[in-house]
Amino acid sequence: MYKKTGLVLIGLLVQWSLFAQYPFEIKYGPYLQNMGENEVTVVWVTNQQALGWVELAPDDETHFYAEERPQFFQTENGRKLVGTLHRVTIKGLKKGTRYRYRVYSREVLDNTGWDTSFGRIAATNPNRLFAFTTLDRSKEAFHFAVVNDIHARSEFLDSLISGIKLDQQDFIFFNGDMMSHLNSEELMFDGFLNKSTELFASNIPFFYARGNHETRGPFSTRFMDYFPTPTGKPYYTFRHGPALFIVLDGGEDKPDSDIEYGGLSAFDPYRKEQAEWLKTVVASEEFKNATVKIVVIHVPPFTSTWHGTLQVGELFVPILNRAGVDLMLCGHTHRYSLQAKGKNGNNFPILTNSNQEIVEVAVDGKNIEVTLKDKTGKQTRQFSF
Ligand SMILES: [Fe+2]
Repeated sequence: MYKKTGLVLIGLLVQWSLFAQYPFEIKYGPYLQNMGENEVTVVWVTNQQALGWVELAPDDETHFYAEERPQFFQTENGRKLVGTLHRVTIKGLKKGTRYRYRVYSREVLDNTGWDTSFGRIAATNPNRLFAFTTLDRSKEAFHFAVVNDIHARSEFLDSLISGIKLDQQDFIFFNGDMMSHLNSEELMFDGFLNKSTELFASNIPFFYARGNHETRGPFSTRFMDYFPTPTGKPYYTFRHGPALFIVLDGGEDKPDSDIEYGGLSAFDPYRKEQAEWLKTVVASEEFKNATVKIVVIHVPPFTSTWHGTLQVGELFVPILNRAGVDLMLCGHTHRYSLQAKGKNGNNFPILTNSNQEIVEVAVDGKNIEVTLKDKTGKQTRQFSF
C-alpha cells in the first residue's frame, strides 16, 4: 500500500517537475552587443536547453514574412551550440545601416549520441520586430549616453534613461558597477539587464566598461560570456563617427592581497598586460586616423591614493598623455568631479560622473558636448571639450 502511494507520489512529482519547466520561453533579452560597422552580436537566454538563431531582414517596407529570411546561428568550430545562453554574431553587415531582426530558440529535449530531439519553438514577436543600426566611421556627428554605479538600482536606471532622448542615442555606455556583486545570472538580469532590455537594449546597443564590482562574486568569471567585445577582453576599442573609443579596465581598487578578495585577485599583472596592449593601440593607424579620442574607464586616476587608482594613474595615464586624447569618462567615486587638463599631470580632461546622473554626449569633428542630467531629466551641468 505504502509502496503504491510512494510510486503515485513520485509520478506526480515527475509530472509536476515536467509541468514546472514549461512553457519553454525566452527568459531574458535579446540585447545587442559588440556593435561594429560590419557586425553585431545578439544575446538572449532561454529557460531550457535550446538551439538559438537570429533571422535578419533589411529595413524596408516588406513584411518579415514576405520571404524566408537568412538565419544566423551560434557556432563553434563547425558545430551549432546548444545551451540556455545564446550569443549569435552576425557578420558581413553594411556600415551605418539599419536592419530588422527576430530571435528564435528551439528547445532541445535530448542531445545524446546521434539522438537530438527538439521540442517547441519560442520566438520574439513578428509584429514588433527589433531593429539596430551598425556603426559608421563616416558619420559626421552622433550622440551617446553614459551611466555608472547603478549597483542594481534597476528603477533608478529607469529614471535616468527615461530622462534622455533615447531615439537620438547611437549607443549607451555602462561605465562599471552596474551590480555590487555578480553572484548569479538571475541577480544580474534583475539588477539592470532586464530593465535595460525593456527600455532600449534590444534596439540600441550598449558598451560596457567593467567596474571593480563586476569582478566580484562567483558569476563574475562569466562576464565575457554575456558582454562580448572585439578583443574578447574587458578592454577594447571601437570606431564610430569621427571618434575612436578606448575602453579600459582599472580592475579592483585595493591591493590584490586584500582580505576582501579572498586570495582570488590578480589585477597587478592584468593592468600591466593592458598597458602593453594600450601602447599598441595608440601606435596604430586606427588611433592616428581618428579625429576624436575618448577613453572610458570606471576607475578615475588621481581621485584617491588606493592601489587600483594609483596604478591607473601610473600605468595608463602616461601612455594616453603622450598619445593625446580628448576626454576620459569615469565613475566609481559616486561623486561628480572634473579634473581639468593639466591638473594632476593628466594631459586631457577627466570627467567623473556621480551615481546620481546620466551623461549625454554629442560628438562631432570639432567638439564634444557633454550634458549631465539627474533622475528627473533636469540638466545639472554642461561642458564643451
Ligand atoms: Fe567602483
